[in-house]
Amino acid sequence: MSSFKNTGHLFRFAGLFVLAFLIFLGVRGFVVPKSFGQYGHYRGNAIVDDAARPMFYAGHQACETCHADIAATKASGAHAHVNCEACHGPQAIHALADDPTAHIPVKPDSATLCIRCHAKTLAKPKNFPQVDGDHSQGMACITCHTNPHSPAMDTAAKGGAK
Ligand code: HEC
Ligand code: HEC
Ligand code: HEC
Ligand code: HEC
Repeated sequence: MSSFKNTGHLFRFAGLFVLAFLIFLGVRGFVVPKSFGQYGHYRGNAIVDDAARPMFYAGHQACETCHADIAATKASGAHAHVNCEACHGPQAIHALADDPTAHIPVKPDSATLCIRCHAKTLAKPKNFPQVDGDHSQGMACITCHTNPHSPAMDTAAKGGAK
């Protein structure tokens, strides 16, 4: 029993832990949001907050319901996997409106649009189609690649630009 003499300091030490724990519980109750843990280890109301934010992108499925012809053209060409709004920008204001003609999107200008993705840089994977500045010979890209939704690759007809 001799080793349990003078145990006061042990109880004081344990008491400190209990006190710290109670303070922790107090602070936690104060700073942790009410909805924390409602669905998992995060603030449940985050979902409600996000859902309340305005939408900017409508998603390609929305476009395809009204512009089925363009969707079909696109699906048959090199841009099959490039989503509408990657080129047309966020269009929820047009696509999800009661009247889509209230905000008709401006047509993107191929002179600035195409090169954003196709500019030749060393950082791009080699097998990604990319062109340098001379390629377009000062013309708009769709002069030769006539349809942006399915950019033609008719070398003979365009006289071979590269
Ligand atoms: C509810 C039907 C509807 C949806 C959904 C819709 N559009 Fe439209 N869109 C129209 C109508 C109607 C017009 C105006 C008539 C026209 O030019 O075809 C139009 C016009 C456009 C134009 C301009 C056409 C021009 O000749 O200048 C673009 C670009 C366009 N839409 C892109 C999109 C994109 C991108 C989406 C998806 C984010 C989309 N639309 C979703 C109905 C729709
Ligand atoms: C690779 C970029 C790109 C993608 C992807 C794309 N567009 Fe376009 N779109 C353009 C450009 C550029 C124009 C303007 C063409 C012009 O000036 O004649 C255009 C024109 C249009 C027009 C005007 C009518 C027409 O035929 O010229 C509509 C409507 C349209 N796009 C809808 C869509 C929809 C819907 C999708 C998805 C299914 C889509 N676009 C995907 C680049 C794109
Ligand atoms: C948002 C990015 C993006 C924009 C903007 C874009 N493209 Fe593309 N383009 C792609 C992707 C992705 C592919 C498919 C690459 C693949 O299959 O590996 C592609 C493929 C192509 C091809 C086929 C190349 C081949 O070797 O088969 C041509 C040509 C082309 N694009 C021209 C254009 C033109 C013209 C415009 C402007 C109207 C344009 N692109 C705008 C992303 C883009
Ligand atoms: C004078 C006509 C012409 C113009 C303008 C033009 N192209 Fe091309 N482009 C071609 C031809 C022809 C080919 C096919 C060349 C080949 O594969 O040898 C081609 C090929 C491509 C390819 C595929 C390259 C590859 O390695 O697979 C891309 C991407 C492309 N063009 C994008 C563009 C972009 C972006 C613009 C605008 C900045 C543009 N083109 C303007 C005629 C043109």
